[in-house]
Amino acid sequence: MSDNAARLRGKDLLGIADLTPSEISLILDTAEAMKEVSARPIKKVPALRGKTVINLFYEPSTRTRTSFEVAEKRLSADTLNIAIATSSVVKGETLIDTALNLEAMSPDLIVMRHASSGSCHLLARTCRAGIVNAGDGMHEHPTQGLLDAFTIRERKGRLQGLKVAIVGDMLHSRVFRSNVYLLAKMGAEVWACGPPTLMPAGIEQMGVHATTSVEEAVKDADAVMMLRIQLERMEGGFFPSLREYFQVFGMTPERVRLAKPDAIIMHPGPMNRGVEIASEVADGPASVILDQVANGVAVRMAVLYLLAGGGDDETAA
Ligand code: CP
Repeated sequence: MSDNAARLRGKDLLGIADLTPSEISLILDTAEAMKEVSARPIKKVPALRGKTVINLFYEPSTRTRTSFEVAEKRLSADTLNIAIATSSVVKGETLIDTALNLEAMSPDLIVMRHASSGSCHLLARTCRAGIVNAGDGMHEHPTQGLLDAFTIRERKGRLQGLKVAIVGDMLHSRVFRSNVYLLAKMGAEVWACGPPTLMPAGIEQMGVHATTSVEEAVKDADAVMMLRIQLERMEGGFFPSLREYFQVFGMTPERVRLAKPDAIIMHPGPMNRGVEIASEVADGPASVILDQVANGVAVRMAVLYLLAGGGDDETAA
């Protein structure tokens, strides 16, 4: 593949693991143009006029679901949200039957979040529509990885050669996996830190430096990314208490001072304040947490545009 991809190869975005570095650069570069659209007085372009996008979220979401919907509307797509609680899923309809019935209405894209790892791959094999993974179990959350990379690149001008420290619950985190795949492909140096009980087996084979010392991970880092303690995916026993977790791994102003003076602080949200991050850090001058949310719209516009054939239309953005 050439250094500069002109389009994405597949009909789906299932994970960062499937993307080449040039495809990642294409999405990030396209997102820069999309960000300009969001700064206009009229935040709308006709790029996906006539295209239909269905948002199918089996798990709760604030940022991802909302920013996909905003992105779809800014691209002029016809967009609809399936409310799982009032759908026939509650009568026991399977994922595949649900998808096949939605597919019968000829959507161009289905954006799905689901608690089961691999569920998006299953849908992609079944459906003609493109499938966008908005988070599948403990596997991947590719648009989060892309918006995080966009935010780092926007602030630092590059990804290559940066030290990025990722601290928290890596075991249950699809955000961790997508970020590690992406940052490693783009030449960043990734440090992963957390309790040994929350580190995936074979973590070093993912191309990261693993440590249980938050001070070692954060020292001279260009970016510090905190991961949420995923209480809903735990059955206890991973660490003694939330108070002790904060004492050992929580991001405090003292620990931030170990990073480079211009380091940025990131968190995908939702945050457990006082557990993985102190409020003074989350709301402090180095925090780019709300920039990540804003950039999520631009990155999701780019992904939808590239997957739905917007790249074939020169009038797009
Ligand atoms: N970062 C993220 O996925 O947040 P939501 O769960 O609110 O979508």
